[in-house]
Parts: sequence; C-alpha cells; structure tokens
Amino acid sequence: MSSPRIMLVGAGSMGSLHARVIAQSPIAELAVVVDGREDAGSALADRFGAQWRPTLDGLDDVDAVVIAASTEAHFDLAQLVLEAGKPLLVEKPVADSLEKTLAVLGLAETLGVPIMCGLLERFNPAVMTAEALIDEPKFVTATRHSPYAPRIRTGVGWDLLVHDVDLASRFLGGEPTTITGALAQFHPMSVDGAEDVAEAVLTFDGGRVAHVSASRVGQRKIRSMSIHDLDKLIEIDLLRRDVTVYRHVDQDTDAEGRGYRQQTVIEIPELVTGREPLAAQLEHFVGLIAGSVDADAERKSILPAHRIVEALKRRAGAAAA
Ligand SMILES: NC(=O)c1ccc[n+]([C@@H]2O[C@H](COP(=O)([O-])OP(=O)(O)OC[C@H]3O[C@@H](n4cnc5c(N)ncnc54)[C@H](O)[C@@H]3O)[C@@H](O)[C@H]2O)c1
Repeated sequence: MSSPRIMLVGAGSMGSLHARVIAQSPIAELAVVVDGREDAGSALADRFGAQWRPTLDGLDDVDAVVIAASTEAHFDLAQLVLEAGKPLLVEKPVADSLEKTLAVLGLAETLGVPIMCGLLERFNPAVMTAEALIDEPKFVTATRHSPYAPRIRTGVGWDLLVHDVDLASRFLGGEPTTITGALAQFHPMSVDGAEDVAEAVLTFDGGRVAHVSASRVGQRKIRSMSIHDLDKLIEIDLLRRDVTVYRHVDQDTDAEGRGYRQQTVIEIPELVTGREPLAAQLEHFVGLIAGSVDADAERKSILPAHRIVEALKRRAGAAAA
C-alpha cells in the first residue's frame, strides 16, 4: 500500500506536533489540515504543503484521520470520521465522558473501522524500556503535575490522569477492582466542575495497588512513575525519558553508630528505542490502517483508562458535593 493520505483535524498545540510528524514521515502523507480558525489552520497546512479546510467534510480524498481538536469537539468529529469508514486516531481522551467514549468505540466496532486513541505515553521510550524490565509489579505510583493551563476545560482527570491510569492498569493487570480518590478545584479561572487536582488509588486482582496523582496547580512540570517489584524498583522520568533500576542490598548504622547507611545497586539500562513517541504512535496507526495491528485489541485497550477517570470523577465528585 502507498503511504496513507492523512487528514489532521485541529491546528492547535497538539495538532502542530502531529502535522510535523506526519509531514516528515516516510510512511504517511499529510494531505489536509482542518481547523475553523483560518489563520492557524492555513498557516499549518502551508508550512507542510497540505490543503486547509475550515470544516471536516469531503473525506473521500483521504485514507485516514487524526483528530487533535479540542476535547469537547471529539465526539461529533469522531462519529463523522467513522461513519465515512476512515480509520481514526483520536487524541486522548476519546470524549469528555464515558458514555460518549462508549458510543464512539461501539460505532467503530459496529462499522468495523479501526480506531486508536492518542495515549502517547505508551510510546515513550522510557516507558517502553521499563515495560521490558517489569516482572511481577506489585505497586505503582505516578505523579503528573503541571503549571496552570486555563485552556484545558475538561479538568485534569481527562487531561492528565488518563495517561497514568492507562499505564498503571496496563502494568498491573487491566481493569482495577476498586477505584477511590479525591478531586479538588482551587483556581479561579477553572471552569466549574473542572478539577485542578485528581488523586486516584486503584486496586487490582491479587492486591496490587496504584496511586496516581495529577495536578495543574504545580510550579513545575513533573512526569514520574515508580514501579515496585519485590526485588527491584524501576523509576521512570517520563519528561527526561530515563529509567533507573534500584536493588537494595543491605543497611546498617555507620561505624560510629551515629547514622544510617544503605547499600543499593543502581542500574541505568539502555533505552529500547530512541524514537520520538509521536513518530512511534504514527507508525502504529499506519499499521492499524494497513491491517497489521489487531484492531479489536487496540480498540479494547482504550477503555480501562476512560472507565477509571469516569469512575473517579463520579465517586470523588459525589463525595465532594
Ligand atoms: N497525547 C497527549 O499527550 C496530548 C497532549 C496535549 C493535548 N492533547 C489533546 O489534544 C487535543 C488538543 O489539545 P491542544 O492542546 O492542541 O488544544 P488547542 O486549544 O491548542 O487546539 C485545539 C484546536 O482545535 C481546533 N478545533 C476546535 N474544534 C474544532 C472542530 N470542530 N473542527 C476543527 N478544529 C477544531 C481549535 O480551533 C484549535 O485550533 C485535546 O484533546 C488534548 O487532550 C494530547
């Protein structure tokens, strides 16, 4: 198959990154950029030799679609794309509620159209390296904190937490058995009901536990995850994309008996890949378009993270009310 012609919907921050990666890719072609804002849409299309359109119609001349429009627009756009029978990569979250997400995934299944979600951290080289090192993880902690960004109207559950609950549930065994936590809203510019902080505790079969923290009222960007086995700790810095493995050896007091001394073996593994996550994600999408990636498994893998965020928002929101 020749390189698929891709339509990109949304020419904002994330859309600009997708545009560059698709345009520079040897396995895909950026054909059309859609955005109602002519200045942003046509500038992005011009930069990468694509056509600009103000609305998503006329899908006949493209092979697949990437939706990187604002989250609130995903639901309507995704249905149009699927009804036209075009394979879809929709940015995370698929939609801003579980009900809409289920409707989109159900439509993709009924129509037999491949869909994937931009859960980009799955393609982070540090995450992929850690994944290859994990044996029997028991406990995961994750922190995803950012300085304030008022343009995100959905709250940090759908915007940030979704990434780490996706990874935690993949590492610890799929759907959690219990989901508890708390949401908090502090910032005067946040839309009512759009939380600034989300704390989730997930338990899984066999007593495995994850504690995942997301915030947009931080003073610096933090993206970290620790995965605990009984005999090792794997620490991931998702921002710097590095992995450190710790194995405790011994501990005692120092020779004079005045302090604590510990021996730990520290290992810095070679990353399994150095590829930019968006480029790796695009390659996976091209595989999905071509039929070399299992479309059913891909679609099913989207659901746990969306279920977890919705459950937390419902339970923690109700507790706060
Ligand atoms: N995977 C990731 O790591 C990651 C990171 C950041 C953002 N995102 C996701 O990407 C999406 C966009 O985020 P952003 O930060 O680029 O937002 P943004 O506000 O910078 O850009 C959104 C763009 O979508 C356009 N748009 C809105 N409705 C549209 C419609 N119906 N048709 C066409 N264009 C439309 C807007 O005009 C705007 O240009 C969000 O869903 C967000 O959750 C994902």
